[in-house]
Amino acid sequence: MPGSGGRSAPLEIAPEEFASLAREVVDLTSGFLETLPTRRVTRGESPKAIRALLGRGGVPQHASDPRQLMKEVSGLLFDHSLLNGHPRFWGYVTSSAAPIGALGDFLASVVNPNVGAYSLSPVATEIERQTIRWLAEMVGYDPGCGGLLVSGGNMANLVAFLVARRTKTPWAIQKKGINGGKGRRLIVYASNETHNWIFKAADLFGLGLDSIHWIPVDDQLRMDATELRRAIKRDLRTRNVPFLVVGTAGTVQTGVVDPLPELASICKDNGLWFHVDGAYGAFAALLRDPPGDLRGMAKADSVALDPHKWLYAPLEAGCVLVRREKLLKETFSHHPAYYRFGKLGEEEPINYYEYGPQNSRGFRALKVWLALRQVGLEGYRKMISDDAELARYLFEVVSKNEELEALTNSLSITTFRYVPPDLNVGSKRTEKYLNKLNATLLEKLQAGGEIFPSNAVVGGKFALRCCIVNFRTSRKDIEAVPEVVVRVGRQTDLELRKKRGFSL
Ligand SMILES: Cc1ncc(COP(=O)(O)O)c(C=O)c1O
Repeated sequence: MPGSGGRSAPLEIAPEEFASLAREVVDLTSGFLETLPTRRVTRGESPKAIRALLGRGGVPQHASDPRQLMKEVSGLLFDHSLLNGHPRFWGYVTSSAAPIGALGDFLASVVNPNVGAYSLSPVATEIERQTIRWLAEMVGYDPGCGGLLVSGGNMANLVAFLVARRTKTPWAIQKKGINGGKGRRLIVYASNETHNWIFKAADLFGLGLDSIHWIPVDDQLRMDATELRRAIKRDLRTRNVPFLVVGTAGTVQTGVVDPLPELASICKDNGLWFHVDGAYGAFAALLRDPPGDLRGMAKADSVALDPHKWLYAPLEAGCVLVRREKLLKETFSHHPAYYRFGKLGEEEPINYYEYGPQNSRGFRALKVWLALRQVGLEGYRKMISDDAELARYLFEVVSKNEELEALTNSLSITTFRYVPPDLNVGSKRTEKYLNKLNATLLEKLQAGGEIFPSNAVVGGKFALRCCIVNFRTSRKDIEAVPEVVVRVGRQTDLELRKKRGFSL
């Protein structure tokens, strides 16, 4: 048999041994999944306590028994992690992970294709290609687009940003760089509610943060299109070079959708690149009654998606789509002499190292592809609709409680705050206190491990924020929220008033 020489390597595990070891790991993990709902979301342990578990030793000098090792590390992870697969985890935009995704990652690691080049990963490349087509189809984008699986939403947005920069800059920026503009400044427009990736993009790609021209939002927290038109007009009268408008399909704080069709037409009128950050909300296109503005995604030059959010893929899996594949490839394709990935028969191969910043690439698409095969569009429609319905239900449940103030509900995000009934809401002094109270309450809730919200700031109000991208959450979990928040809220209020000598 080719390659079956007699070398003994310390890392090798014989197939029978591997099978029995893997079975043990599978038993441990399924036991963990079974006990998930009965565990606390987090134990809120200190970094010092966690470090103590690992000990202070240097790099291990000697071998360890893999069986013992896997048992030890399973315990470490199960008992000292924040469990985002818990039914009551609703922080940030982090989902419960689809179990089939874990099996996909396992398979992908065992076969270990390098999805940088077709010849190194024939079937994996085709699966990634098919996944990209499916994802585009799901959000109503042209399935003939170019695309790439990346590590997450940030990276998807960064890739699109660079393609936009290369395509729309009036000088040869890829060759001459930013200085080729002889002092002219490239300008990107984004609303105040845009996710923080925009800072990294402006910095990483040499534009500088001053190149972001912030467009205010309206009273529903959507980008104000009239203000955008004005800002572009203003810049065109100067030496500035507008090149990109970023719209968001589901903002990170409150889940609102920008007026995407209008932004698309402004971009068309002014010859600008239109990018949609759909990392959180793009898959809301599957809702029975999706926000009408999501239709504007179809008109974007590029879209960022994030299967590790609302498609419940285990981390990491993001995806960027670019309407004209050629532009994506032109941005990243270089041909060093040491890569000879030529034609395969009649076909030009897809070598994904030419489509993005990574060279060697793992097989991220498999877990996304498997989950899509497992439940199909129907399954995703149901889970996404259920999540949105639960968020609406939370808004309703919170609205009915005298000590809670419901603030916003959009897609699957609901925001609210704890308000002690004796406070005179609206006065500057009380609002300041309420912000402090809710920020402290959030810390207590997060460390307490009963439920895990995160926060948003809505019109200056510090809000508790539940984002339900969690197929394990039920109505019972939602109904538990007011009792937990009010109980911990009262306690926090008592402590704070005592400490600050707060009087009405
Ligand atoms: C709208 C939006 N864009 C981008 C991101 C960043 O995504 P990731 O954390 O996968 O990089 C997020 C994360 O919550 C988001 O909500």
